[in-house]
Amino acid sequence: MAGITDGDFCRGLLNYGFDMVTLGGYNADKTTINAGREILARGRPEFDIEEEELVNYLEDQALLIKDHDSWDGLVSVNLRSITPEPIVEISKIKSVDVVEINAHCRQKEITDLGCGQALLQDHSYLENFTKEVVQKAKSQVSVKIRANVAGVDELTIVKAIEHAAADYVHVDAMKPGFNHADYDIIKSISQETSLFLIGNNSIRNLESAREMLAAGADGISIARAAMSGRLSFDLSQI
Ligand SMILES: Cc1cc2nc3c(=O)[nH]c(=O)nc-3n(C[C@H](O)[C@H](O)[C@H](O)COP(=O)(O)O)c2cc1C
Repeated sequence: MAGITDGDFCRGLLNYGFDMVTLGGYNADKTTINAGREILARGRPEFDIEEEELVNYLEDQALLIKDHDSWDGLVSVNLRSITPEPIVEISKIKSVDVVEINAHCRQKEITDLGCGQALLQDHSYLENFTKEVVQKAKSQVSVKIRANVAGVDELTIVKAIEHAAADYVHVDAMKPGFNHADYDIIKSISQETSLFLIGNNSIRNLESAREMLAAGADGISIARAAMSGRLSFDLSQI
């Protein structure tokens, strides 16, 4: 969650059974950083880190998590960028295990740049972008997408991400008008891909976590239910 999930925040959640935590989203180049400042100016949380400071900053944030004595999970960083290069640079940080390409953000300042969710509008572009990150990255690569975006076929997008040889596809299975995830989308994606599928949206207890896994997700992710910095359930009980 932009502006919220820094190293300190993630560290506070390590005892709830997570085997991966995600820093960010962060804006990784000057253009997205400026867009982030516009978002911040209208009152939405954003991290505002200078481009030149981002690698050192993220290394510190990831180390804060890795320093935890009894946790040996993975640290991922969710990133918005116009080009693959800044994401590749961040993948070289030793304490970062996964870089996640944000093809999910729907804030207008970001989509106007062709970033975030706008990447879903052109599956070939997304495939090439992801391929370049995968080929040059020193870490694993995830792509975060949003389901049920008008004019976007999720299966075509997932195939593009698979062709690019990413390690994970992270799907926010948002179902407009409902307070639960679109499990049918997770089911159809899981049947079409061998990528590790992280299912996301409206997981707020063990029951909804189990439902996401039963639909075919290989793993789950949680945002709003952990936003207070605490979780009301323990994922190791799944
Ligand atoms: C305040 C806030 C900030 C968010 N920032 C990001 C972000 O930077 N990158 C991203 O991929 N998703 C972001 N999300 C989306 C969440 O990661 C998640 O996909 C979405 O909230 C649905 O999952 P949930 O029902 O568990 O909250 C954000 C969500 C919230 C509420």
